[in-house]
Amino acid sequence: MAEEASGKVDMEKIVSLCQRRGYIFPSSEIYGGLSSCWDYGPLGVELKRNIKEAWWRSVVQERDDMVGLDTSILMHPQTWVASGHLEQFTDPLVECKQCHLRWRADELKDNTCPSCGGEVTEPHLFNLMFKTFMGPVEEEANVVYLRPETAQGMFVNFQNILNTTRKRLPFGIAQIGKAFRNEITTGNFIFRSREFEQMEIEYFVKPGTDKEWFDYWLEERYNWYVNLGIKKENLQLRQHTKGELAHYAKKCYDIDYLFPMGWSELEGVANRGDFDLTQHASHSGKSLSYLDEETKQHIVPCVIEPSAGVDRSALAFLCDAYVEEPDKEEIRVLLRFHPTIAPVKVAVLPLSKRENLVELAKKVYADLRPCWMVQYDDTQSIGRRYRRQDEIGTPFCVTVDFQSLEDNQATIRERDSMNQIRVPIAELKKTLAAKLEGEDLFVLPPGGQIWKEEREEKSG
Ligand code: GAP
Repeated sequence: MAEEASGKVDMEKIVSLCQRRGYIFPSSEIYGGLSSCWDYGPLGVELKRNIKEAWWRSVVQERDDMVGLDTSILMHPQTWVASGHLEQFTDPLVECKQCHLRWRADELKDNTCPSCGGEVTEPHLFNLMFKTFMGPVEEEANVVYLRPETAQGMFVNFQNILNTTRKRLPFGIAQIGKAFRNEITTGNFIFRSREFEQMEIEYFVKPGTDKEWFDYWLEERYNWYVNLGIKKENLQLRQHTKGELAHYAKKCYDIDYLFPMGWSELEGVANRGDFDLTQHASHSGKSLSYLDEETKQHIVPCVIEPSAGVDRSALAFLCDAYVEEPDKEEIRVLLRFHPTIAPVKVAVLPLSKRENLVELAKKVYADLRPCWMVQYDDTQSIGRRYRRQDEIGTPFCVTVDFQSLEDNQATIRERDSMNQIRVPIAELKKTLAAKLEGEDLFVLPPGGQIWKEEREEKSG
């Protein structure tokens, strides 16, 4: 049986594949690593880029009611007073009186230390924002914070966006960027780290229409994951209870994913009401209202906020794509990524290292590289090279063999089915573009033919 459902995938297998193949490494590994910080390797960085580009395309490029923004990580300290983060972005922290390890009080089953069983202290509130100093003098007046969410950069620029884009309600701002939280409990690989990336939308609507826009965005964001191949059975929507709601939220749903450690938040969709604009207007003394042209009244818009994590999305895509299936006496491991998400789209493989084959394969490689991330590989046996591409999730391999030298055709091999077709090299670019868009492998271009099994034996 193929190991498919993500909830059944072992996190250790994902971590090991990520390290082995160059997806993700512990940060500063040669110094023993830095707790809950991660470095994305050559494949990981492509995976993240693809996730961010797919998100940007769907929420900015393909819409006329959204604009993008890229604000600084360090913001005026008053931002965090107004947003409520200075006072309320806290977790209850306890310390073990015996071993002095610190824990989140709300995650302990009883009042004992999970490590040594010792008694823990009374909880005190611990602010999760990282503090640093602006300028050369380390004094209280120069304290600034690393932003714990990208959202506030969008609220404080509300008037700038209105003035420069002339957007009318409803409209939204989108931003992708790093956020930092001094989490007490981290873990589960890249699921909860202290430095991570967010993809956030602040969608401004007329008060009274916020409920319908909330439902709209929840559905929109759920479908984004499904359209990029995440299995529906591994997704669920979960409403926050009153006690769970963040200080700014009127209502919130999590889009949960069935990660290896169980159902956990992948993205949150919140109705923030007019909390943020009202707070920033009152703390800055600047008007953040909107002139409603119908009623000629100044109003403060409500905000719907779909807030996703790039790293959590990467983990969900990795877990969901991970498959182990029997292959003769061995196990074939593959990442069944949607082509949009796959870090490498095509691998070009000459059947052997014979000079004339390598020359033709490199020509094909050079021709395809401007279109997609393409790898060239002429090491080891063809079977091993296919397995390697399966394991990193490459949807198509193009094989150049001896016959190619005579008929100018090459073989396209599909990752999931391992089926193959033979097409003229001149048609490769167009054919691969169609296949990457989801066209059936067996729709042949002019001059193409279905691959015959015996051809591999003859030429191998
Ligand atoms: N502006 C709203 C906000 O920040 P959140 O639920 O705290 O809401 C939104 O965070 C998303 O950011 C989460 O759904 C998750 O994907 C990601 N995220 C939050 N904390 C994280 C952490 N410590 N490590 C990795 N991702 C995190």
